[in-house]
Amino acid sequence: MTQDELKQAVAKAALDYIKPHIDEHTVIGIGTGSTANYFIDYLAEIKAEVNATVASSEASAQRLKQHGIPVFDLNSVDEISFYIDGADESNHQLQLIKGGGAALTREKIVAACAKEFVCIADESKLVDTLGSFPLPVEVIPMARSHVARELVKLGGDPVYRQGVSTDNGNIILDVYNFAIADALAVESAINQITGVVTNGLFAQRPADILLLATQNGVKQLHC
Ligand code: A5P
Repeated sequence: MTQDELKQAVAKAALDYIKPHIDEHTVIGIGTGSTANYFIDYLAEIKAEVNATVASSEASAQRLKQHGIPVFDLNSVDEISFYIDGADESNHQLQLIKGGGAALTREKIVAACAKEFVCIADESKLVDTLGSFPLPVEVIPMARSHVARELVKLGGDPVYRQGVSTDNGNIILDVYNFAIADALAVESAINQITGVVTNGLFAQRPADILLLATQNGVKQLHC
């Protein structure tokens, strides 16, 4: 199977995982990226059963609406039942790096409101130590140089993601060469820098389950 076929397989597995639990009160949080897009397309097949979704990006909201799936503002719902999203990396504790698609802040907000965070990924995303994938940090534009200098002090190598503006009107610094042994500590340290909106480490709120597409089928990993 190609990587794309694996992404498709895990998106289908996520639908099968949540489908028995969907009722009129279910609110589904929707992630961002190519794997989440496959999930949206599968969700469209059962849209008559889906009363409410909350999207983690304008792109996902638009795709949901194109399918005729109802999208709500997060402030108008009580709780997200399931949050389905991809990742750039996951370790075996289901701590993640996310934000390759620049949607990390809204993804983190929706994940924080979710009863169950179901991460969907192909097997290339599972790592022993986070940090080979450059860690995205969303930054208020005027703080770009200050935040970059502070990230260097923390041992990283920040690179401005040219031409990218987030859905919140901010910029992204991608931090290279960070060996992230203690993801909780690094997440917290970066968030202390003035001008940082948030960073792409999901350690304080890891996934609850990782559906991992492999050449031998989709596996379920729990932390
Ligand atoms: C979006 O900002 C990211 O967090 C994505 O969830 C992540 O980059 C995974 O993307 P793919 O599903 O496209 O690999």
